[in-house]
Parts: sequence; structure tokens; C-alpha cells
Amino acid sequence: MNVGGTLIAGPAKIGLSGKVSVPGDKSMSHRAVMLAALADGTTEIHGFLPGEDCLATAEMFVQMGVTIDWLNDEKTSLRVHGVGLHGLKKPATILDAGNSGTCVRLMMGVFAGQDFDVTVTGDASLQVRPMKRVADPIRAMGATVNGEGDLLPLTIQGGKLKAIHHVSKVASAQVKSCVLLAALYADGETTVSEPRPTRDHTERMLPLFGQPVTVDDNGLIHLNPTGKLTAPSVPVYIPADPSSAAFFAVAASLVKDSDITLGRIGMNPLRNGWKRILADMHGAMELQNEAQVGEESVADIHVTYRGLNGVQVNSADVPDAIDEFPVLFAAASLANGTFALTEAEELRVKESDRIAVMAAALQAAGVNFVEKADGATIVGGLLQGGCIVDARGDHRIAMAMAVAAQCAAAEITIKNAAAIATSFPDFVPLAQSLGMNVRWSDQ
Ligand code: S3P
Repeated sequence: MNVGGTLIAGPAKIGLSGKVSVPGDKSMSHRAVMLAALADGTTEIHGFLPGEDCLATAEMFVQMGVTIDWLNDEKTSLRVHGVGLHGLKKPATILDAGNSGTCVRLMMGVFAGQDFDVTVTGDASLQVRPMKRVADPIRAMGATVNGEGDLLPLTIQGGKLKAIHHVSKVASAQVKSCVLLAALYADGETTVSEPRPTRDHTERMLPLFGQPVTVDDNGLIHLNPTGKLTAPSVPVYIPADPSSAAFFAVAASLVKDSDITLGRIGMNPLRNGWKRILADMHGAMELQNEAQVGEESVADIHVTYRGLNGVQVNSADVPDAIDEFPVLFAAASLANGTFALTEAEELRVKESDRIAVMAAALQAAGVNFVEKADGATIVGGLLQGGCIVDARGDHRIAMAMAVAAQCAAAEITIKNAAAIATSFPDFVPLAQSLGMNVRWSDQ
């Protein structure tokens, strides 16, 4: 996808150093604004991610009659005046999720419970991403979903919903969360099972709003709707995003003499796959100041340079690291030995086909990257750079290539990188503050 924005990156001139806080967690920011909007009462949220994706979710609720007060110019703190589960109004226009799969897939669960119809669309990338995985369960619950080939734009006519037992074929927190949000409107207990556990922020956050969710010994998730959500009496604090932290952790692991600390990063075990994989690759990370924030834990991550080795990724780690493979591919390109990933075909239906797009970019930079249907094999050690690559409007590809470039022999130009604004608007200034060699071409 052409989104413009060209980054010039690498090679690093000095070791990375310093302490930074990356912005709030993307997954939790979406969920916090959704639950707050659907609750009775006013919720204060701090640590919100002011990226385009989460702002798209907030804007959808504004268009359905919810008032949101931004408490600072950076848009990291907000007060959401919830309208209750049945208080949303039919929007006057088509809703636009932009680039955000989490926004549209979770909101489809919300739309399924409304007694009005909604048409939702997204950008060129989102219009080709699969929506059948969420359309089918909400249809089974009683909603009508219309759209060519089950792709965006889709029109959802909601109403009274039936409880279902959903057996998800894909390990997807978006599918699970869509069903759990629709289940708030159902006539009895809904259950969801998934082939492998995925991030559980929805299950952890719903009880803060008075809606219990239980998980039994078999991993089956149960939601028995109480008929309403209630704004918590204390603010919701969102930890810093581990997926954003991963870029700097990998950069510091690769660039000689680096020593950095990443502050108050979310430690949810179902988001920790990249840390396990990087540690298996011999990355040096130490946790400091571990603390609890609401239903989630946080810690500072101290990362120092230590050469990396290739590994065979354990397939059980794949869902917990699903967003970090672009930057792990960058790490693998500079590691000693072979890195092998399988059972990760979901990477092909992210903001871009992340296997094909990373293969093209790293091969152009001189890496021995062999593309597999469900993953990749990378023989590390050589990254020439001195090339122009295309991030294809995928934020994580642009940032991963900026990290790879730090250890390239020559600078890399990364086109279509403006999508960084979807999840990490301040990536470039924060990277520069740590000593990374990266800038916008017009800077
Ligand atoms: C997310 C779930 C994951 C992830 C995405 C955020 C979420 O997607 O890739 O960035 O917040 O639920 P899938 O559910 O498609 O695996």
C-alpha cells in the first residue's frame, strides 16, 4: 500500500544508550475505550496510545454519540462518558477503521448487539484482510453481515443475540474478543475456545467493568452476560506496549556497546513470546522494578548488547510473538547461524504479507532469507544494505527495517513508512534519543 513517508536508516555510529518509555499498549488502548464507551458512567484512561489505530476506535464511538474529553494535548489521557450497552446511536456516515484490524474486528462484536445497522470500511490494506473469521460467529449469534466476499466494506445489522459455543480455528485474540463483546448482548452464557491461547486483555479488562469472565481448566472461556458494564471507580492505567519495546530491545541487542532501559513495559505472559525468543537467541535482558498495574503487570527491561544466535522458534511461542516477527527477522539476519520459523502462516494476513514483504526487503539488503509458506529460514551474519526497500504501508515492517539498518554495512532507504503513525507515532524521535541512526528523508 502506498502511504508515503521515507525513512533513511543506519548504520549506527554509536552504541544505543539511555532510558525511554514507549507509548501505551495498542491492544489495551482499543479495549479500554470500547469498554468505557459501553459502560454506565465515566471512565478515566491514562497511558492511551495516540496512534491512528486507537484514535479510529475512539472516533467510531464519537460518531455513535459517545462524548470523549481529551485531558492533554498528546491524547494519552482521556475521559470517556459511557452511554451503556444500549445507548449507542446509529452513525450518520460509514465508519472507517483505517488500517486497524483490531478496531474493525472487535467493533463487529459491538455492532452485532445494536438495533441499528452500521457500514464499516478501512484502508486498502484492511479491505483485503479476512473478515469471515468474525462475520461467521456473529452471524451464528443472529447478526446479519453483508459485503462482497466477506471483505470490507461490510454492513452489520445487529439485534438480539443468541449465546454460542465458538470453536475458533485460528489463534486470534481479535476473533475471541469480537465474540466476547457480542456475548455481552446475548441471551445466555457464551463460550470460546481457541487452538492456542492468545493475548487475554479482553478477559482481564471486562471484570474491571463489572463483567466476570472465567477460563476453565481446558482453556475454555465463559462469559455469562450481566446485562451491563459499569465504569470503574479508579482510572484505567495502560502499560507501555511490549510490541513497540521489541524494536529497541532488538536494536540494543544488535548494536555493539548498547545499554538501554525501556520503562514500565507490559509483562502479560501472552505477549512475551518475543522476549523468550530473543533470550533463546542469547539476547541479554534483565527485568527491573516489577509492579502490578490494574489487572496487568509491568517492568522495566534493561537490555545490553550481546551477539545473537539463530534458533528454531518453538511453535507454541508463535501467537505470543505474532506482531514481533518482522523485527525478529531483522535480528535473525544479523545472528550467528540459522533461524527457522514455522506454523506462522497468520503473518501473511497482517497489515501486509509480512513473510513476503520482509523477505523482499531483507533479500534486497543482502540477507539469505528463504521464504516458506508458513514461516522463514534465515541464515544470519550478513546485511549489506545500500538499498531501497518498500515497507508497503506496514508500520512494523518500516520499524523492523530501521532496526536492521543499524547493523547494515550501508544505509537503507525505507519507502512507504508513514504507517508508523498507526502504532508508534514518536518512533523516530525516540529512536534518535537512544542513538539510533534514523531520520525522515525530509528531516
Ligand atoms: C491483536 C491481536 C493480534 C495482533 C494484533 C492485535 C489484538 O491479531 O496481531 O496486532 O489486539 O487483539 P490476531 O487476532 O489477528 O492474531
